[in-house]
Amino acid sequence: MSMASDLSLTDLDFFVTGDPHPIWAELRASDPVHWTERKGKSGFWSVTKHDDVLTVYRDPMQFSSEGGITLGIDEPPDPNEPKRNFGMRQMMILTDPPRHTRMRQLVNRRFTPRALAPHEPHIRAITTEILDAIAQRGECDLVVDVAAKLPTAVICEMLGVPREDWDLMFTFGNMSLGSEDPEYQLEGSARKTAAQGQQNVFNYFMAMITDRRKNPAEDLVSALTHGEVEGDKLTDLEILFNCFLLILGGQETTRNAISGGVDALIANPEQRARLIADRALMPTAIEEILRWTSPITHIMRTAMRDVELRGRTIRKGDRVLLWNASANRDEEVFPEPYRFDIERQPNNHVAFGYGEHFCLGANLARVELRVMLDELLRRLPDMTTAGPMERLRSNLLAGIKHLPVRFTPQRAAA
Ligand code: HEM
Repeated sequence: MSMASDLSLTDLDFFVTGDPHPIWAELRASDPVHWTERKGKSGFWSVTKHDDVLTVYRDPMQFSSEGGITLGIDEPPDPNEPKRNFGMRQMMILTDPPRHTRMRQLVNRRFTPRALAPHEPHIRAITTEILDAIAQRGECDLVVDVAAKLPTAVICEMLGVPREDWDLMFTFGNMSLGSEDPEYQLEGSARKTAAQGQQNVFNYFMAMITDRRKNPAEDLVSALTHGEVEGDKLTDLEILFNCFLLILGGQETTRNAISGGVDALIANPEQRARLIADRALMPTAIEEILRWTSPITHIMRTAMRDVELRGRTIRKGDRVLLWNASANRDEEVFPEPYRFDIERQPNNHVAFGYGEHFCLGANLARVELRVMLDELLRRLPDMTTAGPMERLRSNLLAGIKHLPVRFTPQRAAA
C-alpha cells in the first residue's frame, strides 16, 4: 500500500469523485489491519475484513465508543472557538456498557418490529404524499424530493416534532453531519457549521423538553425526559444529545440507502424487472441494498489496552476505523462481492454495525425502505437517471446529495 493511497481514505475530496473500493480491496488482500501515519494528526488503524470488523464490534470493553465514533472534522481547530462538548458519555452511541445498555433501554422497545407495525400505514401515507408531489412532473431530484423526505418525516413524528418544522430538521441535519461539504457550510467552515447545526437542534429540543416535563406525551422526547437510568433521570444535556442522535441517525442514513438503492436498481434493469414482478424478493433486495450502499462508511473505536488483531499489535489509545463498506465487499464472505444481487443469501452485511451498538433504527429503516421502494416501483416503474449523481464530501457517510431522475408522468391519485 503506497502512502498516497492509504491517505486517500482521509481525503474527503477523493470520496466525492474517486472510488475507494480498490484501496479497500488492496488492504483486505495485503494488509487487512493497516496503520496509517499522518503528519501533525493522529494516525489510525484501518480494519477492512468482515471477520475482524465483527471481532472489534463484539468487544466494547476492549474497543471503546467513548473516545468518539469517527476521526472528527478534518479542519484545524480555531483557537478562538469556545471549547465544544461533543457528547462523550452523554448519548448512547458514545457510551460503553453497562451505562450504554441502560440508556438504550429507555427507547429500545419503541423500535422493535412489533412496536413499529402500527406505524406502517402512516409511513405509507407519508410516502404516497411525497410521490403525489412529484409523480405528475416526470422528473425530480430523487434525493431532495423523495429519499430525504420520508426518514425526516418519520423520525420527526416519533420524536414529536410538528410538521411545520420538518424542513428545519432536514437543514439542521445537513449542517451537523454534512458540515464538511461546501454545499451546507456557513462561512466556509465545517466546524462553525457543525457547531451551529448542533446548537440549533439543542435550542429546538430544549423547548420541547421543558414542555414534555409538564405535559408528557407518547413521543420519544417524553420517553427520554421521564425515563431513568441507574435510578436517575437523564440530565438536560443527555436528553438533548440523545434527541440529536435520533434526529441525525434517522435522517442521514436511510436517505442514502433509498437513493443508492434506486440507483442500483436503475443500473440493473433486469433485477428491477424481477422485483417489480415479484415483491416476495423485497426482503433479500433490501438487505442487498444495505450491503451495496453501506450508508455509514466507517465507525471508529478506541483501544482500551494493547491488543492483537490478525498479528498486528494495536496499542492502548490507538484509534481503530472499522470500514463497514469494505467488510461488505469482503470476497471471503460474499461471493462476487461487486455484483448487486437482490436474491443474495446469506447476506450478513454490517451496514447496521454489530453487537451492543447495533443500529437502534434498523427495523425502522427497513420498513421505510420497503414501503418507499414498493410505492416507487409500483407508481414510477420506468424511472431512469437524468444527470450525474452528486456525492457528499465525507468518508463517514456514503452520502448522495442529488440524483436527477426522470419517468413517465403519472396522475396524482394512485
Ligand atoms: C439505512 C439506514 C441506517 C444505517 C445504515 C445505520 C447505521 C448504523 C450503524 C453502523 C450504527 C452503529 C454505530 C456504532 O457501532 O458505533 C448505528 C447506530 C445507531 N443508529 Fe442507525 N443506521 C440507520 C438508520 C437509523 C435510523 C432510521 C435511526 C432512527 C432512530 C437510527 C438510529 C441509530 C442510533 C440511535 C444508533 C446508536 C445505537 C447505540 O449506540 O446503541 N439509525 N446505525
